[in-house]
Amino acid sequence: MKKKEIITTVIEYNSELELSNIEQELVEQSKDSAKNAYAPYSNFNVGATILLANGEIVSANNQENAAYPSGMCAERVAMFYANAKYPNIAVQTIVISAFSNNKLVENPITPCGSCRQVLLETEYRFKNNIKVIMVGEKILSVDSINELLPLSFSSKNL
Ligand code: THU
Repeated sequence: MKKKEIITTVIEYNSELELSNIEQELVEQSKDSAKNAYAPYSNFNVGATILLANGEIVSANNQENAAYPSGMCAERVAMFYANAKYPNIAVQTIVISAFSNNKLVENPITPCGSCRQVLLETEYRFKNNIKVIMVGEKILSVDSINELLPLSFSSKNL
């Protein structure tokens, strides 16, 4: 047998100014969108803003429910909405901002496992890598969902 290692490449920014102008705009929109989250149970507001290949931008946020598992993360609400509204347009970038008790988190959050699976499906669907920018006081990015979900299950396995 042999041991294999998988390397994930993550970019850590020194400042938001290192992002492109459009990316900085997406950051602002995701922070704005987080304000509209319905998160009375966790007080953890997440905003997700998506840039599509046609230049359209869509934003969404987490939607909780008294029956906790019925709620949904911001990333999936945004991605399903983008794919529902623009079924033929690739997704280029998703920006995720998180606030705990109305305060921007220090360390950015990364999408949960279910969201990674959904984002991966969109990446494969349009054969286009999706850049994920994760925003707290610090900012991180990866150039593809594959970086966050190695050894994934996909249609290639069916
Ligand atoms: N949440 C997201 O919206 N995105 C994530 O990446 C992690 C968690 C939401 C789900 C729930 O409404 C709240 O944050 C606390 O888990």
